[in-house]
This record gives sequence, structure tokens and C-alpha cells, in this order.
Amino acid sequence: MLNAETNQYRFPEGFWWGSAASATQTEGAADVDGKGKNIWDYWYEIEPNRFFNGVGPQKTSQFYYKYKEDIQLMKEIGHNSFRMSISWSRMFPNGKGEVNPKAVLFYNQVINELIKYGIEPFVCLFHFDMPMELQKMGGWVNREVVDAYVSYAKTCFELFGDRVKKWFTHNEPIVPVEGGYLYDFHYPNEVDFAKAVQVGYHTILSSAKAIKVYKELHQDGKIGIILNLTPSYPRSQHPADVKAAILADAFFNRSFLDPSVKGEFPAELVQILKEEAFMPVINEGDLEIIKNNTVDLLGVNYYQPRRVKAKENLPNPKAPFLPERYFDYYIMTGRKMNPHRGWEIYEKGIYDILKNLRDNYGNIECFISENGMGVEGEEKFRDENGIIQDDYRIEFIHEHLKWVHKAIQEGSNVKGYHLWTFMDNWSWTNSYKNRYGLISINLNKDGERTIKKSGQWFKSVSLNNGF
Ligand code: BG6
Repeated sequence: MLNAETNQYRFPEGFWWGSAASATQTEGAADVDGKGKNIWDYWYEIEPNRFFNGVGPQKTSQFYYKYKEDIQLMKEIGHNSFRMSISWSRMFPNGKGEVNPKAVLFYNQVINELIKYGIEPFVCLFHFDMPMELQKMGGWVNREVVDAYVSYAKTCFELFGDRVKKWFTHNEPIVPVEGGYLYDFHYPNEVDFAKAVQVGYHTILSSAKAIKVYKELHQDGKIGIILNLTPSYPRSQHPADVKAAILADAFFNRSFLDPSVKGEFPAELVQILKEEAFMPVINEGDLEIIKNNTVDLLGVNYYQPRRVKAKENLPNPKAPFLPERYFDYYIMTGRKMNPHRGWEIYEKGIYDILKNLRDNYGNIECFISENGMGVEGEEKFRDENGIIQDDYRIEFIHEHLKWVHKAIQEGSNVKGYHLWTFMDNWSWTNSYKNRYGLISINLNKDGERTIKKSGQWFKSVSLNNGF
């Protein structure tokens, strides 16, 4: 066990240690107690083959039934904070209208249980799970869905805001744009850049409007957004490679980061949208709302870098428009890999993000809201005592935390580190393929929970506030 006195890497007093998860990925009980369908329930119904091993969202990790056991385990492994999300279609089965009292009861119980164990609940309102009734109206393409979202958000603030003091409007809002409207990995599986832009724009507007409502309620908490700020590194310093990286960054990072923190859109992106005739429909007064309602707190998700180079070949002008008209991806020779997930590991990326926020985004208060290592086939690392010996995950976290620590030394306003994720969970079309948890889930034994070696290690880091 580590000792606080001998820590080499000490973190500031009150550092947030914990993990993140989302409703659809953990709760299960997908058609229980009045929950309405969301896009995942529906998509699985019509195309179960799109999900790894055909496993859908109905049952997931049964947090709905096992939340007491799970929260005890969180305490046991040293959590002082935990990010969950609320399922919109559990709260409002049709996306709007009457609130579902059983959902209110469930979330009240979870929030109270967390507080009972001294774990601060961080609550996210939207983690990829659009209610199906609203998707039938076009989802985020339709402006009416923005209004439905804002009234759902207001209901949550009013019901839970006396105890929840950290709110997040969206998790990785670029992902539903990419998955649903560009690259075919979320329902409705369209490839349509015009819709993608409108979806992104409406999401940003919904975030600003929810922030406005939150501020008007004077609830004495903070509200933010969670963004996957994957840095874009150019292959070389050749101006064409550098420009490719700047544009990739504008499409995938600054598209949400700039409006969320600065209240404005990146000029490079606006220029491309104008030139290519893809500007979204913007109503009078919208930009004012976005300008005046920026976030208090920023969650940063980081898994891997994005490496880009100038385009090698002319794009097919008749193919659907995608951001990749402006850059190509490239594989860096000698990169370090997580062979169990096929993602590059580049620990310094986390520091580069924090430095960028410090220097170019007013050093906004932030925290690492997701970072983690997915492992396919992790059962093979279970030892004779039933413990997953995930030394690779310990090393992964350890190496990233060193860079977070360095950023703190250099003045970064980063307040905590949450791992993705608490327990192995269902991950969209990847289902249970890649395991990320500090706690393992045995799907063959009714979701039996076992603390992994990394869970014990994480506990010592949290209790010693460093390592
Ligand atoms: C994150 C998402 O980006 O990636 C999570 O916020 C997701 O919801 C996680 O589960 C891991 O993804 P995958 O595809 O490796 O299971």
C-alpha cells in the first residue's frame, strides 16, 4: 500500500477521484417501470446483427437493480465522485409530456445513496440516447427536440438540483453527429453532412439553452459539458500537413469546444461551411444565447490521439461530403499501441489538451472526465482466485496521471480524474467486447461483480491522493 508521505506524485487537496458511466450502458431494465424506447432499443429491435455478438441494450449491467451494491463498491475502491447519466426516455417515455414517477424515484434513490457514501454525483443529461419518439420527429435535426431537451433538463434541475451540484449538458456531442449522420455507427445511420451540421448546431444550442435555464434557477452548482478533445497532430511541419491538422481540429474539437467555452464558432469551420454551402439554419437570437451561456466547468475525455496529414488524392466530388475532404489520417511509425483495442496510446496527449485549455481557453476549470483502456477478451487475464490481473490498465492510468500532474505543476486548472469506467459495461455496437472497468462483470453469472487488480490500485491512489 502506498503512503501519502512518500508520494512522488501528489495531487491537490480535494482532487476528484472516481469514474464515469452512462445510463443506457449500465442500467438495463430497458422496458421496465415505464421507460420509453430510445434509439438503441429500437435499432437493436430492427438490426440486432449490428451489435457485437448480437447483445443489445435491454439488460446491460443491471445497475437499475444492483445500484446499492455498486455504490458500495465505488466507496470500497476509493471514489469521492462518480459521473452517471440520466436516461431521458426513462424520465420522459415519449421524450416530453408527463414525467415518469418511477424514474424520479430511481434517480432520487441513486443520488441519495451516492451522497450517503460521500460520493459526489456528477450528472450528465445526454449520453447518446435519444428517445425514439423524438427521433421519429427527426431527433436533433428538428428544432422542436431542442425545446423538449431544455424542458427535460429543467425538470431534472428542479427535481435533483438540491443535491446534484455538478451538471453536464452532453457527453461527447460530436459522437452522435459522427455516428448518426456521417459514419454509420449510431441510429439513424444516415450519411448526410447537411443534417450532421444541423444536428451539431442544435446540440450546441440545446446546451446553451439548458445552461441559461440552470443559471435562472440559482441553484448554487456548476454546469458544464463533456467533450472528447482528441488532439490532432500533423505528420510534419510542412504547411500542408499543419493545415490539415488545424482543419481536423476545427471539425472535431473546436466545433464544440469554442462555442461551449468562448460562445463562438471557429472561423475556419464557418468558412468551410459557407464555401461548401452547408451553413445550418440559425434563428434570430440563437447566437446571442450561445454567446451568453458558456460552461462553468469542462469535462475532458481522452483516449487516443488523431494523427493527420495533407490529402494524398483528390476526393471524389460525387461522393458524400465528409470532413475527410480536407485531410487524411496517417499511422505514425513506432506508435505505442493498446493491442487489445487497436488504439494508439499517447500519454502526453492528455497534457497537450490541458496546456491548450490553459493557454487558449482562459484556463477554464476542468477535469479528466474519461480516460481508460479497453481490452477485448479480458477474461484470459483472470487468475486462479478470480481476479483480473490488469497490470496493463494500471500502467495506462499511471502514465496518464503523471502527465496530468505535470500539467497541474504548470498551472493547469484540472480538478480531477475519472476513469472510463467503473464496471465493465455495454458499449453501443461494441456491446461487451471491450472491457474498461475497475470492476469486472461476469455475464455468465448474472453480472457478478469482482474488483480487478486496477480497482485495488486505484483505491490506494485515491486514498493517498497520489502515488
Ligand atoms: C467513449 C464513450 O468515448 O468510449 C463511451 O463516451 C464508450 O460511452 C467508450 O463506452 C468506449 O468505447 P468502445 O467502443 O471502446 O467500447
